[in-house]
Amino acid sequence: MLLTIPKVLTTDQVRYARERLHHAGDAWIDGRVTAGHQGAPVKRNLQIAENSAIALELGDLILAALERNPLFISAALPNQVYPPMFNCYEEGMYFGNHVDGAIRLIPGTGVKLRTDVSATLFLSEPDEYDGGELLIEDTYGVHSAKLAAGDMLVYPSTSLHRVAPVIRGARIASFFWIQSLIRDDSQRSMLFDMDTAIQRLNSSQADEIARTNLTGCYHNLLRMWGA
Ligand code: NI
Repeated sequence: MLLTIPKVLTTDQVRYARERLHHAGDAWIDGRVTAGHQGAPVKRNLQIAENSAIALELGDLILAALERNPLFISAALPNQVYPPMFNCYEEGMYFGNHVDGAIRLIPGTGVKLRTDVSATLFLSEPDEYDGGELLIEDTYGVHSAKLAAGDMLVYPSTSLHRVAPVIRGARIASFFWIQSLIRDDSQRSMLFDMDTAIQRLNSSQADEIARTNLTGCYHNLLRMWGA
């Protein structure tokens, strides 16, 4: 499932994050430090060093916003969220085709996180740069995303994806991964569709017994499939 989650951050939060990142100085490092064997040869960008004070501060801001976002919770069914990272693609920078590594060690914790869902939270407005689209391939073809600042795309970590070269300006974003309670994307998608339908029925005050039964099915599927 590819899904846009609008307005994860408010305009003021985006402005604050951008201001902090603009003055991050030597916390910006070569993005290849976190790329694996597959990613490193095709990756050309800048990243904020993990565990730097700015990464931790802005990461916490994003995590707090996600905890209050019902659409994110319904779609991703998060078990654990990787501390958000930050990148910048300046003119000529890109990230070629790759699949994100399946397991990531959360820095300084020894905790291993299985990447089920990948997230990109856009921090630049689309008119600030040309190119820089996030391109995701699935069985239906290639999907292109270039969202408003503050909006976030979530997509299965199993997908082949890339960031097109930036040809004007700079593209700044946060990116991270989620270990979901539901490992399989098709099962997670079905639960999201079911939850969305139940929410619609709840808001229309439809038959209460039927809604109770459907809600029971939702939770029992979550229990059956959940990690
Ligand atoms: Ni990636």
